Amino acid sequence: MKRLAVPFLAVAVLAPPTLSQILPPPPVPSGNPLTAAKAMLGKALFWDEQLSSSRSVACGTCHSFARGGSDARSMNAIHPGFDAVVRTGDDIHGSPGVVRHDAQGRFVRDPLFGIRPQVTGRKAPSPINAAYAVELFWDGRASAVFRDPLSGQVVLPASGALESQIAGPPVSEAEMGHLGRSWADIAADLAPLTPLALADRVPVALAAFVQGQTYASLFQQVYGSPGVTPLRVIFAIASYERTLISDQSRFDLSLVNQGTLTPQESRGLLKFRGLCAGCHSDVQPSVLSTGPVLHEYRNVGVRPGLEDRGRELVTGDPLDRARFKVPGLRNVALRGPWFHNGSRATLAAVLDFYALGGGFTNDPLVINIPGQLSVQDRADIVAFLGALTDPRVANELPPFDRPRLWSEGANVPAVFGAGNAGSGGFVPSSVAVLPAFGGNAACTLAVDRVLGGSGQALLFDLLASGTPSLVLGQNVHLAMSPFLFAVAMPRPAQGVGPGNGFAQHRLAIPSGFAGTTLYGQWLTLDPQGPNGMAISDAFALPLF
Ligand code: HEC
Ligand code: HEC
Repeated sequence: MKRLAVPFLAVAVLAPPTLSQILPPPPVPSGNPLTAAKAMLGKALFWDEQLSSSRSVACGTCHSFARGGSDARSMNAIHPGFDAVVRTGDDIHGSPGVVRHDAQGRFVRDPLFGIRPQVTGRKAPSPINAAYAVELFWDGRASAVFRDPLSGQVVLPASGALESQIAGPPVSEAEMGHLGRSWADIAADLAPLTPLALADRVPVALAAFVQGQTYASLFQQVYGSPGVTPLRVIFAIASYERTLISDQSRFDLSLVNQGTLTPQESRGLLKFRGLCAGCHSDVQPSVLSTGPVLHEYRNVGVRPGLEDRGRELVTGDPLDRARFKVPGLRNVALRGPWFHNGSRATLAAVLDFYALGGGFTNDPLVINIPGQLSVQDRADIVAFLGALTDPRVANELPPFDRPRLWSEGANVPAVFGAGNAGSGGFVPSSVAVLPAFGGNAACTLAVDRVLGGSGQALLFDLLASGTPSLVLGQNVHLAMSPFLFAVAMPRPAQGVGPGNGFAQHRLAIPSGFAGTTLYGQWLTLDPQGPNGMAISDAFALPLF
């Protein structure tokens, strides 16, 4: 990374810098002035799962502050990568988004993920301190020039990378959107909604701000005139991100003589300056101002270049193949698994990677490392990287405080129990991944791994059976509960052959049943199953 402007380095030479001088305020585009109210609105939008058409994914779902702005779920969320096969070397630890679905909320089978949440093809980097970057994303495709997502007109000629980035996820069919979703749909969708309706533990100031309003009235209050428009949504979220500045790690404090690093961390820093800071210059203590950060794109060779061409996808230049944006390292210890593909589960493994001279690279700064990074050095650097954690980020304290998402709370559906195999030995498998809040017109429930073309019934009960593995019992006729009811599926399962079929039911959740849990299980007509039926595992669907 190169600093474009170092405005007060001269001052820093004369007097020790103060904490506020380590990271000066980030650049703000003149077309989107930063106001406290706009940032607060952006905070509500960032943490609102209602920004997704499925009502199940917020920006914050994939960008958790306790994880340094990245995603705790990545360890267990696998994208099969270039070869489309899971459990091979090119797998990517990404972020689960939405089940592929149409504008009515019907699931549409995805070639890679079926009717399960799709996983991004890269690991989520952090929105924290992203405000300093001239370009965003691992390949920098979110450029400083921000264009209106509907008209394509340039809205911000400079410093608009955050705005450019935000335009992406809400219309991404993998991350937050239905097939063909546009920004006009998003704005229209949001207007009547109650902000943060699905979240709880909303920070006091944020709760007071949204109190009793719809997005339409909040937008009017913040912008001074009515209108929930795409640009206003994007501007608000970008403004919020410009407040996500992390500069109070122990390393930062040590720079202003408000604390010291341990001897091991200091040794790590020294080693880091020698071997790493040539690329990772954001923690170069000789440069106290960041100004706008022009990130460099480098290839340390995590994977062969053809799998993910990185920067080449943006520039078209083969020399940029497999180059990725050099990530800022503040809070890096919270952000595992590491690298653009989440392939290293520990920082020690990252250091081992560098100690071997990287992977598929010929970058001189990387291939020169072997021999210069002893086991002790690696441990020292890992310790130093730990000193880059800002405790306000780790503990989600202001400005990193935030609501708890639906997906993190008690109202998440759970799949449990065992089921019975049908044709091909496949056990039908319940898919219950959407929030069942009162008024949700498309809380779609589904089953996969059934016999293609088979008929289904979806059985509901208000009681789970005493047998923990089954809701309704495998013999439904024996386990009659007074609350049992069934939804016959009018259409046979889509798909062909044993295990390849899936069926779905769009359940409209009535209001007024908050606190009730609906239990469900799928029955499939399958000649190979016991009594001519295969049975899915069960699911619990908390209504709220
Ligand atoms: C489904 C998960 C998911 C959702 C939802 C999501 N992101 Fe991301 N985000 C990612 C991934 C993955 C990347 C990296 C993609 C790439 O580089 O190609 C990313 C990249 C970013 C970056 C770039 C950081 C950098 O250093 O380059 C920012 C900022 C960001 N997201 C903010 C947001 C905001 C704001 C929203 C909501 C409007 C959002 N994200 C929604 C997964 C997600
Ligand atoms: C040639 C430039 C270069 C050098 C030298 C370099 N890095 Fe990196 N580093 C990168 C790039 C580029 C990435 C992102 C690579 C990717 O994900 O494919 C990265 C990623 C990382 C990550 C993972 C960050 C994350 O968010 O996942 C860590 C940690 C890291 N480097 C630490 C180090 C340490 C420690 C050293 C010195 C031993 C070092 N780097 C040397 C360029 C460099």
